[in-house]
Amino acid sequence: MSAPTGEAGVELPRWAQVSPRRIAHIARVVALVDQWAIARCAAAGERDRWRRAALLHDALRDAPEEGLRRFVSDSPWPLKTRHGPAAAAAAEADGERDAGVLDAVRYHSLGYAGWDDAGRMLYLADYLEPGRQHERETLDALARRVPVEPQAVLRAVAALRIGWRLKEGGPIARETWEFWNGLAAAPSSSSR
Ligand SMILES: [Fe+2]
Repeated sequence: MSAPTGEAGVELPRWAQVSPRRIAHIARVVALVDQWAIARCAAAGERDRWRRAALLHDALRDAPEEGLRRFVSDSPWPLKTRHGPAAAAAAEADGERDAGVLDAVRYHSLGYAGWDDAGRMLYLADYLEPGRQHERETLDALARRVPVEPQAVLRAVAALRIGWRLKEGGPIARETWEFWNGLAAAPSSSSR
């Protein structure tokens, strides 16, 4: 584990604890949100917000449980999803002040009804990035549609991700249901 900078084209925070495999995943997520920011003609500041969310989201994914407790002492969430709130807390302590970026990082494993585009693009890229091999053609087709119909793709990806969770038989967090209900209530033609 290390807190590398400059590897695979990504500059991770010094407090990151990530394996080389994770760095490669983070780099692919950053590249994908960047690609979508260009395709959607996002302003430079917005593109930077998406990049920061992508860079930070898994920065503590490989930290041991004690390491996560440093940042999140008491959490009702399963261990697998605690690296998000831990990374958000660490990023905030490190000077990140953008509430949308922090919410993107905090809830990236669960979904969040209050997200702006930083959270939405991260949630999509985390699942659609080209390193995921399962049903690759389906994921590629979804990734290509993001710049033109982000809301419809978000709904499709949420359905896939929540569907997996249901198949596993695990509990569904309140944040996830609220996220889904918000998507289900929005018109699918909405561009936001
Ligand atoms: Fe990730």
